[in-house]
Amino acid sequence: DKGNHRHFMLKEIYEQPVVVAQTLASYIRPVEQKVALPDMSFDLSKIERVAIVACGTASYVGMIGKYWIERFARLPVEVDVASEFRYRDPILLPNTLGVVVSQSGETADTLAALRHMKANGVTTAGIINVPTSSMAREVDLLLSTHAGPEIGVASTKAFTCQLAVMAALAVNLARAKGKLAEDEEREIVRHLLEAPAAINAALAHDAEIEAMAHTIAAARDVLYLGRGPDYPLALEGALKLKEISYIHAEGYASGEMKHGPIALIDEHVPLIVLAPSGPLFDKTVSNMQEAKARGARVVLISDAEGLAQAGEDAIATIEMPSVHPLIAPLVYAVPVQLLAYHVAVAKGTDVDQPRNLAKSVTVE
Ligand code: F6R
Repeated sequence: DKGNHRHFMLKEIYEQPVVVAQTLASYIRPVEQKVALPDMSFDLSKIERVAIVACGTASYVGMIGKYWIERFARLPVEVDVASEFRYRDPILLPNTLGVVVSQSGETADTLAALRHMKANGVTTAGIINVPTSSMAREVDLLLSTHAGPEIGVASTKAFTCQLAVMAALAVNLARAKGKLAEDEEREIVRHLLEAPAAINAALAHDAEIEAMAHTIAAARDVLYLGRGPDYPLALEGALKLKEISYIHAEGYASGEMKHGPIALIDEHVPLIVLAPSGPLFDKTVSNMQEAKARGARVVLISDAEGLAQAGEDAIATIEMPSVHPLIAPLVYAVPVQLLAYHVAVAKGTDVDQPRNLAKSVTVE
């Protein structure tokens, strides 16, 4: 049932404050302000490296997880798309935690990668939305996302719930490895618990995003830029736009602009820049200005501080609430999803059932 929403995708975008809160609630002890994973049959403190395997949108959760796990737990993390991982004879050293991320829990390549890891003695965890799925049954540690059924083919609420679980895993690993003091953990938990309200604040910009959708819908190509954990989000923005509006889009790490993609820039190519204020902001803005000097029409998605500094260089801005960098990807996911949605509606495509795509890819 779509409720009063026109499409399942929009309904699911709007469910995010509630389902992210539900997901966080099952991994956070609010009184102690600590993260807690379910009981597990192995010792997290013995883990020395992490290998994350997933496809599509779920693989971007893996890439964001790499930033978080390396930063907080100081463990090396490898991220692979499952179709590459399973055929490249990966080196699986002892004390690796293999992590699969999947909404359906049935994606053929991810399931095969999970089985490959298990067959090679790797301890596995799965960030999975469908609790009855094959992956959910086969992982050593099931980390459920509580997004509820996702009907729209383009993944939205599963993505932000997967990020919430990934953050909890990163914090738990950090504590197990002795890399996180109690007060630091409380601080991170406090920020994580702010995510649902911040997602809500991001949703309040829906009408503005809808108003700019016609401009983007007229483009043939769109570029997305981001740095750090917002780079995978640029990839997610581009994927979402391609999937449902059929506009060609690419996501790039901001710093990679001048190594090639800048050749594409002219006044016909909108550039969506994801840049929360913080230590990386100035660098991304200088990349944005390089593009602007070549005629790019920039849409800047940032917070009040960032927009005050660089908003004048953009043809349009979307103001996000000011949030801790840790939770920024959960919040900046919202404008990225809404933009793809409204552009697709403006183009008149079948938003919930895009051509050539299936909700669950059970063949390789
Ligand atoms: C994009 C999308 C796909 C899936 C991918 C993995 O919107 O939905 O890229 O993320 O097919 O699917 P799951 O998560 O079911 O393994």
